[in-house]
Amino acid sequence: MTLSSTTPRPLIAGNWKMNGLSAALDEARAVAAGLDGRPAAARVAIFPPATLLHRLGATVEGSSVLTGGQDCHGKASGAHTGDTSAEMIADAGGTMVILGHSERRTDHGETCQLVAGKVEAALAANLEPIVCVGESLTQREAGEAVAFVVGQLHNSLPPSLAGKAFNVAYEPIWAIGTGHVASIDNIVEMHAAIRAELIALFGEQGRVTPILYGGSVKPDNAQEILAAPEVGGALVGGASLKAKDFLAIIEAA
Ligand code: PGA
Repeated sequence: MTLSSTTPRPLIAGNWKMNGLSAALDEARAVAAGLDGRPAAARVAIFPPATLLHRLGATVEGSSVLTGGQDCHGKASGAHTGDTSAEMIADAGGTMVILGHSERRTDHGETCQLVAGKVEAALAANLEPIVCVGESLTQREAGEAVAFVVGQLHNSLPPSLAGKAFNVAYEPIWAIGTGHVASIDNIVEMHAAIRAELIALFGEQGRVTPILYGGSVKPDNAQEILAAPEVGGALVGGASLKAKDFLAIIEAA
């Protein structure tokens, strides 16, 4: 997907993680129905487990809801048992992919170099990546959060992203699934640092690349977070599993 020259609408992305059986499609159907007829102030995407991606596409067909994968392999195909390629995500109807989520980096030892390779694979399949970065509590307490995240970003974004649509998600690890949302000051400071690095890497394009915040975004804090400078959307885990909560977050955008 190539880049449009206009500033993108905020992106509200729902990451279901390893949650969701067939019944979860009812929630997606409710999200699609809830958006019907509303002005499309935000882009909305749902990232279900791979097992549901194809059926989710059919469920939300005809609505503005986008779908995508939670990860992809760095290779196009081959002997990689259990993995999903970017092309398979596209074949199942996905147009986006989350890459380098901290749970992938922790559970599967994903390095920035590996993530950058996955970004290349996603671009080759015409998927729009959301590249995740974020520091641990230890790093934040040591005063190393900004330097760490900027370094992670630098090493996870391949130069081939130039001219392509992509998003960055800042997700402090200590805020994910914990209910401890980062303070607005923390978010503003980090998003400014990420913006500066994006401009250093990609020039003019880096000025409009959406920077999402993720980590315990809920209906009651979404408005304040989404109104903060340089916040171009939200990556939502737990609160994306219920249509009512996810719609309330979309509403806040
Ligand atoms: P959370 O997850 O909203 O449940 O904190 C966010 C994420 O990890 O994407």
